[in-house]
Amino acid sequence: MSTIPPATCPFTGTTAAPLDAKASTPAASTDTDGREAPVADWVRIEDLRRNPFPIYQRLRAEAPVHWVPAVNRYMVTSYAAAHEIEQDEARFSANERESLMKRAMGHSMLRKDNPEHQIDRDSYGATLRPGTIKKHWNAIFEANNTKYLEELKAKGPGADFVWDYAAPYTGENLRLICGFHNATHQDMQRWSQTLIDGTGNYADDPQVWAKAAASSDEVDTAIDEMLVYLAKNPDHSLLSNLASFPIPLEAIRANLKMTIGGGLNEPRDVLSTTVWALLTHPEQLAAVKTDPALYAKAFEESVRWVAPIGMYPRETTRDLVLEGIRLPAGARLGVVVGAANRDPQVFEDPESFNIFRPKKPHLAFGGGVHFCAGTWIARAQVAQIALPQVFGQLPGLRLDPETPSVDEGWVFRGMTRMPVLWNH
Ligand code: HEM
Repeated sequence: MSTIPPATCPFTGTTAAPLDAKASTPAASTDTDGREAPVADWVRIEDLRRNPFPIYQRLRAEAPVHWVPAVNRYMVTSYAAAHEIEQDEARFSANERESLMKRAMGHSMLRKDNPEHQIDRDSYGATLRPGTIKKHWNAIFEANNTKYLEELKAKGPGADFVWDYAAPYTGENLRLICGFHNATHQDMQRWSQTLIDGTGNYADDPQVWAKAAASSDEVDTAIDEMLVYLAKNPDHSLLSNLASFPIPLEAIRANLKMTIGGGLNEPRDVLSTTVWALLTHPEQLAAVKTDPALYAKAFEESVRWVAPIGMYPRETTRDLVLEGIRLPAGARLGVVVGAANRDPQVFEDPESFNIFRPKKPHLAFGGGVHFCAGTWIARAQVAQIALPQVFGQLPGLRLDPETPSVDEGWVFRGMTRMPVLWNH
């Protein structure tokens, strides 16, 4: 029996069963229109982690939805099926009944359906909206970008693009967006990782719970302190809005923990993946350097090509048929946007990175009522500010041929090692 640990989506809390878990069989449906979901017992977590895309190709070609024993869920891989789920919260609930995310972080907006979800979403106010980004955040992101690019330069060629630049840059941005003036970007990264580990603690490891609980307590204390301070000294942060919003403290805590878990990795990962993609496609790199307006296209193509959040959960509220596949009420689904974004029914030559492809909506930021609240702030910090500066300030930027870069993951996918060289 395999001892490979369960694979978990840190942000969304979806967890795959360990490989030795007994495969459950899909329950029977009373709906007679559709067919049973095929069982994909050949899918292995370790293969998904290394490179999920050939697996997605095979799944999509066979059926839009499969029962996948290794993941202990139905995996939804076609664009049409993923899109249908996102647009219909009456049939597909975000409020999973069994959720380690709720245990680790509390019950955030991401796990609520409307009308409860909308109250929490409204409590985030104008902080993440385009007007505030333009008037307030862009200047802050620019200053942070200069600071962390200088630190990368000081480290010298051979430094790791992810850990010596992208992670501290996006961590510091998120610290200020949230309003944690009493914490550091290192605190943000530690809180993020330990809370994420808690959402994936299917092995019930007491040490993992202890670390998640310690971070959760630290975040609660930091929130309590900042709410008092920001009520008297308001700024543009999330906590500043929340200090005057009539919402229970438990909801504030859960939403902030979810945002710490989800607002740090994704901008870091899309920044690194986009730079990696451009460095390995020199003709497209030459084009963006000539026309910086193309950095926005490079960003969108990057999140389509490698969705930073590859899968998130939903649960059916009734017996139903999804794209011809019968699903019972209470079925646990994994909406695999990482696969839907490469569906050949929608995207021509979908496996290629091509910033010039015809514009079509990808699903990397989700859709419907849970459409990512941080979309605009991610675009600003990565496409608008970081990418032009990275290529402008690091002449001859290239991957270190001696130490290959590594990309990993499927529920969360990004570069985990990326040593770079440049001329200086
Ligand atoms: C490239 C970067 C990002 C990607 C790809 C991304 C992706 C996503 C996705 C797929 C969802 C929906 C998940 C679901 O429906 O279950 C989501 C929700 C959310 N994201 Fe992002 N995200 C990114 C950056 C950010 C940032 C920087 C923030 C905050 C500063 C943020 C805050 C949120 C929030 C608050 C939600 C919950 C929305 C709701 O439930 O109404 N995200 N994100």
